[in-house]
Amino acid sequence: MYPFNDSMKMMNRRYTVLLSVFICQVYTMLAQDCPSKQDLQNSIQQAQKLLSSQEASYMQSLRTLRKKLNLLHDSVTRLPAKPKNLTCPNLDTPVNGRKLGKTLFPGHEVHFLCDVGYELVGSEMRQCKDSLSWSGQQPVCKDIDECLSSPCANGGTCTDEVNGFSCFCAKGWAGPTCQSPTPTFFVSIMNTSPVVGGGAAAASSFPLTHTSAFLRQPKCSQVQGTTHCTCEPGFTISGRENSVCTDIDECKLFHNGQAGRLCLHACVNTAGGYRCTCPAGYNVTRDGRNCKDIDECGSRQNNCTRDQLCINTYGGFQCVKVECPQIRNATYVKTSPTRCERNPCPADSRSCSQAPNSVSYHHMSVVSNLSAPRVIFRVSAVRMMGDTLRFALLGGRGRRYFTVQRSDRQTGELLLTSPVQGPATLDVEVEMSELERRELLGRYITKITIFVSPYEF
Ligand SMILES: *[C@@H]1O[C@H](CO)[C@@H](O)[C@H](O)[C@H]1NC(C)=O
Ligand SMILES: *[C@@H]1O[C@H](CO)[C@@H](O)[C@H](O)[C@H]1NC(C)=O
Ligand SMILES: *[C@@H]1O[C@H](CO)[C@@H](O)[C@H](O)[C@H]1NC(C)=O
Ligand SMILES: *[C@@H]1O[C@H](CO)[C@@H](O)[C@H](O)[C@H]1NC(C)=O
Ligand SMILES: *[C@@H]1O[C@H](CO)[C@@H](O)[C@H](O)[C@H]1NC(C)=O
Repeated sequence: MYPFNDSMKMMNRRYTVLLSVFICQVYTMLAQDCPSKQDLQNSIQQAQKLLSSQEASYMQSLRTLRKKLNLLHDSVTRLPAKPKNLTCPNLDTPVNGRKLGKTLFPGHEVHFLCDVGYELVGSEMRQCKDSLSWSGQQPVCKDIDECLSSPCANGGTCTDEVNGFSCFCAKGWAGPTCQSPTPTFFVSIMNTSPVVGGGAAAASSFPLTHTSAFLRQPKCSQVQGTTHCTCEPGFTISGRENSVCTDIDECKLFHNGQAGRLCLHACVNTAGGYRCTCPAGYNVTRDGRNCKDIDECGSRQNNCTRDQLCINTYGGFQCVKVECPQIRNATYVKTSPTRCERNPCPADSRSCSQAPNSVSYHHMSVVSNLSAPRVIFRVSAVRMMGDTLRFALLGGRGRRYFTVQRSDRQTGELLLTSPVQGPATLDVEVEMSELERRELLGRYITKITIFVSPYEF
């Protein structure tokens, strides 16, 4: 049965002889007589038994060792020849975007972000594969074409801008999306002049402004014995005997008129016309009536420090600092400007393994009085390891405005349930937990902060 059976038996015999001699020597040393033949035989028998059992376990260890060596040999011969370069090739940073992650070893990930006003086309994340190539597609940052949805009504022309669009309205239409008919008063005053006789009925409803800039001399001419007087555009004939042209206060006349307001925000009457103004943080658009948010983050008109994120809001900006959570017995590391991931937990720390695996931070800007219900954010699992995902709304100052619903197996949606009046800052936390046979595999928290504009624009 054993390969070395014979030689081992020989060794065994030799040991027995040596042992018996040794035993006899010990007895002699103790100054006693050498033991009897019977005693010696007993001792020798015991030693032989001992040796046999030693022999068996020794053989057993040898066989185990051989087996292990064979396995090791097999696995070494099966290993592929290692390539010289152990990294994936470097990846380009997309134009108008950023790349996060510098490590090019297999298993590591590189993430891509686009600047405000651009959307990512391609892979948000690429992983260095064992084959030393990258997963996914090289992304590009595409200017979001807000014109694609044809937002300008009534024949208006749309111009795409970074982070927005503007409409140039066809004649007769106004408003941010050319939704309102232009008040036709200017046109009609030109068409209905000259005004003759006992004064225009319309004129009496406009109070005379005392500033002389708001009064003009009419242009009068004699035609076949009758005097015809006309005013410049924006003025209307008034006074006794139609002797004066008075500025029309377009702001008052068209304030909340049926045809729509002249200005999105505020109207300033001027001699012969009007001017729209916008709150701080907005520029008047080229059509003169609407307000367009200034992107302070894109234009360096902000004082955010290097360790802060600049978030453009409607009418302003916010500097935010993303700090990883402080949770007992768990430590976090920032893996992107807006994401923290938990470091591996010690094997025995239950409190660490129950802490969220990651916490992501998102900041959004919305206008006031946004109609509801509407989905404003989606949370999705990129890779699913368990058999179930659960979505839940945790705390936050804005909790009462939101619910969480599921849109498909891997996606949860944050739903705004009622309009929010600005200015306000709301925050909510959405939790996604992954389970496998009801056992919690991980928790992923998304903290969403929403900056609500003071205005509906
Ligand atoms: C190894 O990778 C580096 C950087 O990615 C590259 O410069 C070099 O040419 C590569 N060498 C080989 C032999 O592929
Ligand atoms: C907005 O207006 C400011 C001056 O009020 C001007 O400096 C800036 O260039 C304008 N921005 C745009 C995008 O028109
Ligand atoms: C930025 O400036 C505003 C005033 O313009 C100030 O209130 C704010 O504290 C400043 N923020 C930082 C981070 O310096
Ligand atoms: C958790 O942290 C506390 C101190 O904050 C420590 O006493 C305790 O041993 C830790 N428990 C584990 C399981 O690490
Ligand atoms: C909010 O918008 C609705 C229509 O969308 C409007 O009726 C309502 O007056 C607005 N509320 C405020 C406070 O502006």
